[in-house]
Amino acid sequence: MREPPWWQKAVIYEIYPRSFQDSDGDGVGDLAGILRRVDYLSWLGVDAVWICPIYPSPMADFGYDVADYVGIDPLFGTMADFDRLVAALHARGIRLILDFVPNHSSDQHPWFQEARASRDNPRRDWYVWRDPAPDGGPPNNWVSQAGGSAWAFDKASGQYYYHAFLAAQPDLNWRNPDVRAAMYDALRFWLARGVDGFRVDVLWHMIKDARFRDDPLDPNYVEGQPDFRRVQARYSADQPEVLEIAQEMRRVLADYPGDRLLIGEIYLPVERLVAYYGPDLGAVHLPFNFNLMWAPWQPAAIMRFIENYEAVLPPGGWPSWVLGNHDQKRIASRVGPAQARVAMVLLLTLRGTPTLYYGDELGLENVSIPAGRERDPFGIRQPGTGQGRDPVRTPMPWDGTGNCGFTTGEPWLPLGDGHAGRSVEAQKRDPDSMLALTRALLELRRREPALSIGDWAPLAVEGDVLAYARTWGERRVAIALNLESVPKTVIFGEPLAGRIELSTDSKRIRRRISDRLELAGDEGVIIAPEP
Ligand code: NOJ
Repeated sequence: MREPPWWQKAVIYEIYPRSFQDSDGDGVGDLAGILRRVDYLSWLGVDAVWICPIYPSPMADFGYDVADYVGIDPLFGTMADFDRLVAALHARGIRLILDFVPNHSSDQHPWFQEARASRDNPRRDWYVWRDPAPDGGPPNNWVSQAGGSAWAFDKASGQYYYHAFLAAQPDLNWRNPDVRAAMYDALRFWLARGVDGFRVDVLWHMIKDARFRDDPLDPNYVEGQPDFRRVQARYSADQPEVLEIAQEMRRVLADYPGDRLLIGEIYLPVERLVAYYGPDLGAVHLPFNFNLMWAPWQPAAIMRFIENYEAVLPPGGWPSWVLGNHDQKRIASRVGPAQARVAMVLLLTLRGTPTLYYGDELGLENVSIPAGRERDPFGIRQPGTGQGRDPVRTPMPWDGTGNCGFTTGEPWLPLGDGHAGRSVEAQKRDPDSMLALTRALLELRRREPALSIGDWAPLAVEGDVLAYARTWGERRVAIALNLESVPKTVIFGEPLAGRIELSTDSKRIRRRISDRLELAGDEGVIIAPEP
């Protein structure tokens, strides 16, 4: 049997570089800062880091507006810093995944500057231009993910250009083969520098309807919801031709040794999501599965969701699990601090590759940002809709010094009030901390292949808990999670030989289990056969 590729056993750790570690006192995290924390990543026990965009950018969307696909923004450091970071990570056996943002560039990218210079510029067709509607308005009803029409009028040339996000992020025209060639060259540039894979930003947006038909209005839209919910993105996204691009990217990666990984950021229900594995699994290795974030926090609902996902996966399609990222509410704010511990057990014991958002290992919560200190344009443009992402992007608290060791300057976003007490240093001293729990889970996962590459099956139990088993060869490991704060008695349908290897409450480990288990409120356990 072929040894599974590294990423199937891996746990990926997402770093929002502005907020991880500053090294030069400008209040914004950087590559040299991440380099300083490589030992932490190794101590924690993650297998790969995904770093959000670090390319030269006017930072209209904090790096998701790229002005040069093959450079490093001076804010984050230099190419030499980057090379040093790759070497330091690799020296510790940690892989590096870059964020690739191919759907749109910055409006300051030389390509767009040329494209907008005139209608007959050779680069014109690198972006998506349309004539105004007969009334002079936008060509169709497509809505920007950042609010408002997705079309911006360019007075000089009398046409509109399309931007699925901010007007400062014009969409590239991926129907143009020259765009593809240029982007694949950018992938090769980073692959040659040793990058182990890419997380492709908004992959499902990359091709739009060739006829630019209006999206249907969403009859369920309620005033006050974010703008993009007004329409169902039938024509503006998720077009079948996107698959072809993913397959081409895969072929670019395949020219390099070492199982380079292609992850797709795709916000779709699992039934549509799984199409992105491609025929014969030749497209995206891991289409990010975000849907657990919307499942009600309740055993039956979560079990239904897992079973459905497992059922719709194509044969050999490897699952992906995510409970938080730089765009969504922090898990500890969604389910509460006590349940965040149970959520961590869930995330790290499901079948598939989990992605862990920086700071979730500390149980960080959304930080409320004082008026006037908001930075995220998505929130500033749509006040009151909850679209602002600053609260989940605040600096990592490292220790008890000023600004929790994040910066010697003024942090670009405030640190949370309670975050000093939750610093890495404070939690390292506490065997019951969220950090200790996360580290123990990662360590157990490495020791117990059932937890990474084992099969998954629900466990028949009496008692309102979430219970499942992971099996690898002879070893069968059971997981039981109490999603409420009241104690639960669990009766297993079949006796389990084993003991509690790990509990969210570190004092409760090593208990022997057969067919009955008493779970405390907010307790999650992993039961393994005696070694
Ligand atoms: C998804 C990214 O995660 C988000 O932060 C960004 O604003 C949009 N894509 C646009 O690139």
